[in-house]
Amino acid sequence: MTNRKDIKNTETKNDSTRRKFLKDSSKIAVAGAAGTIITPNLALARSAHAFGSDTIKIGLIGCGGRGTGASIQAMNTTSGNVELVAMADAFQNRLDQSLKTCTNNHKDKVRVPKDRQFVGTNAYEKVLDSDADMVILATPPGFRPLHFEKAVNAGKNVFMEKPVGVDAPGIRRVLRATEVAKKKGLAVAVGLQRRHERAYRETMEQLHGGLIGDLIHTRVYWNGGGVWTRPRDAGETELQYQMKNWYYFNWLCGDHIVEQHIHNLDVANWLMNDYPVKAQGMGGRQVRTGKDSGQIFDHHAVEFTYANGHRLLSHCRHIKECWNSVSEHTHGSKGYADISAGRIFDNNGKEIFKCKEGKGQRGGHQQEHHDLFADLRDGKVPNEGEYGAKSTFTAIFGRMATYSGKEIYWDDAINSNISLCDVDALTDLAKDPAPINPDADGNYPVPVPGAGAKDIIDWEISGGRKKKKKKAAAKPS
Ligand SMILES: NC(=O)c1ccc[n+]([C@@H]2O[C@H](COP(=O)([O-])OP(=O)(O)OC[C@H]3O[C@@H](n4cnc5c(N)ncnc54)[C@H](O)[C@@H]3O)[C@@H](O)[C@H]2O)c1
Repeated sequence: MTNRKDIKNTETKNDSTRRKFLKDSSKIAVAGAAGTIITPNLALARSAHAFGSDTIKIGLIGCGGRGTGASIQAMNTTSGNVELVAMADAFQNRLDQSLKTCTNNHKDKVRVPKDRQFVGTNAYEKVLDSDADMVILATPPGFRPLHFEKAVNAGKNVFMEKPVGVDAPGIRRVLRATEVAKKKGLAVAVGLQRRHERAYRETMEQLHGGLIGDLIHTRVYWNGGGVWTRPRDAGETELQYQMKNWYYFNWLCGDHIVEQHIHNLDVANWLMNDYPVKAQGMGGRQVRTGKDSGQIFDHHAVEFTYANGHRLLSHCRHIKECWNSVSEHTHGSKGYADISAGRIFDNNGKEIFKCKEGKGQRGGHQQEHHDLFADLRDGKVPNEGEYGAKSTFTAIFGRMATYSGKEIYWDDAINSNISLCDVDALTDLAKDPAPINPDADGNYPVPVPGAGAKDIIDWEISGGRKKKKKKAAAKPS
């Protein structure tokens, strides 16, 4: 457990300590870049056998854009045959569209007859009951902890999209299930595809090896124009509307700092081979003001501090016609790097490393599936659950900082018991109430740093500091 005193002390540590930290972390990071471990006792685990050239059957839960893409990428893998055997979605039309797209891409590998197509919030259970060897979890992240835990309990290997949760209780649930998966010998892959891209891996190796000396600070950005909105249809319930328009509701999405910026924050954590201990930031809504923009901010800026004193500056913005960048950069005593471009420079601006693979040639979404299926066939058991959960929590931690406007600490934040929604209890989209509701004018409650918004997340607004218990008054003698 890191407290304020520990951080202050480490901030004054000298360069040799930092250099040692980086050398040590470089060894760990290179060995663990793909997160692959060999299970110690293959006989213990049903799924830890080498699939070899056997057909690997997959089931898809969450048949939207990414779930469809991930299923196609799994079937594209060249290490052996992969077949899609079951599908589940909350909505019939999403499942139908996904099935059509998958079939158009892999006619001979899609074996999903009507009795293996499941619709509704509990449809995922039917996919877990099927004979799929691996499931792809690609619903909005609010459901991920529930689906991941149940998938591991059902003995399935898992590929799950990032983020893997939206609140601290969900992240703790994912961390617990990750440990169960390890014991059962089940593979856990997380859709943080940069970790599988050659350009990132080679650049990280150089940085971990000390090419720019001691790392001083890091900057990461996801600044862009924003994402889709899906308009309200006549007759749909509030819950159906929120599920369809999930990006704008924190119980489903976690805000865009969690949904998108996680990729860049994860790169920083990978670089540091650690997670921040402290955060403070600011954010708000400048243009996202309409009734169709739910409750999320349109910009966040956070300063994170790691235990060794390293600062990470993070920006994410959803505002059109501003400076856009999706990138990660770090600065060291002997130079600096544009990690996302795979380029490293000395302090005079001379390029000292350039990755051969340029932006746009990387194919991380495909590579992560090549790596996963090759491992499964070899009897290796990748487990990316821990960094998937902790990098997701880094983004949630950032959101807590910008919503509250306070300086907050990881150890308090990760122990928060504020759950944004009891998703286990949702069974009927047409009848269940939505966990958050608009006011009479159709506007949803939005956090106001430093002040109220208690309806949303009390803990985040309070900054997570525990209230001191009042001393009991002395009893009269
Ligand atoms: N790694 C990446 O680069 C990347 C890129 C895009 C999206 N993603 C992630 O993939 C996930 C899905 O994003 P998307 O763009 O495909 O969204 P999407 O809206 O296209 O798809 C989500 C699907 O999940 C379904 N769904 C919602 N709740 C469900 C439930 N309880 N049970 C079954 N189905 C349910 C929806 O109906 C929808 O079809 C998100 O976590 C997102 O962050 C990752």
